[in-house]
Amino acid sequence: LAPKPLQGCRVVVTAGPTFEAIDPVRGITNLSSGKMGFAIARAAREAGADVTLVAGPVHLPTPRGVRRVDVRAAQEMLAATEQAVAGADVFVATAAVADWRPAQAAHEKIKKDGSGQTPQLGFVENPDILAAVARSDRARSGALYCVGFAAESHDLLQHATTKRARKGVPLLVGNIGPATFGQDDNALLLVDAQGHRELPRASKRRLAQELVAEIARRRVAR
Ligand code: C5P
Repeated sequence: LAPKPLQGCRVVVTAGPTFEAIDPVRGITNLSSGKMGFAIARAAREAGADVTLVAGPVHLPTPRGVRRVDVRAAQEMLAATEQAVAGADVFVATAAVADWRPAQAAHEKIKKDGSGQTPQLGFVENPDILAAVARSDRARSGALYCVGFAAESHDLLQHATTKRARKGVPLLVGNIGPATFGQDDNALLLVDAQGHRELPRASKRRLAQELVAEIARRRVAR
C-alpha cells in the first residue's frame, strides 16, 4: 500500500459526546472523551486525506492539518456533518450521540423554589446521524464509505452484526470491553458482510492507524 493511501480522499469523522441543554446552565451529556475519533482524524490526515472533524464538547487538541467544527447538541452535529459529507469519500461515526434530548430547553435557568417540587423533564429522540448519512444517495451508490462504531457491554459480535445491518453501513467497529471511555488503549472488532476480525489491544493511536489502513484497502478494492 502507498505510504499515503488516502491521498486525495475526503474524510469526515464525528467524535466526542453531545450536550443536550435543559436550560442555559444545565444539560445532559455522557462520558465519551473523543480520543478514538481524534486519533482516527489524525491517522487519516497522516494517510494523506483532507479531514473534517465534527467534535462535540471535548478537551482535546486539534490534530495537525485537520479542519475542526465544534458543535454541542446532536441536531447541530447532524447539520455540520451533513454539510461536511457532501462530496466526501469516507465517513467515520465515533461520536457518542445522546439518544434523547429534553423536549424543551428552558430559556431561563430553572429555579429551585423551595417547595420541594422537582422539574419534570420530557424527552424526544435525537436524529441518528450515522443512519441518516448512510441513507444518502452518495452512501448508497458506494461513493461515500460509512463506518459505524458500537460500544456494548455484552454479546458484542451479535449486537455489532445487528447494528451494522440496522444502520446500513458496510463496516461496523465494536469496542471490545471493558468500558473504553477516556482510556488510552482499546481493542476493536471489525464486522462486515464477510465476517469479523479483531484488532488486538493497543493504543488508540495505533488502532486508528490500523483502521485507517483497513478503510484505505477497502476503498482501493471497490
Ligand atoms: O445506536 P448506537 O448509538 O449504538 O450506534 C452507534 C453508532 O451510531 C456510532 O457510530 C455512533 O456514532 C452513531 N450514532 C449516530 N447518531 C446517533 C446515535 C448513534 O451517528 N443519534
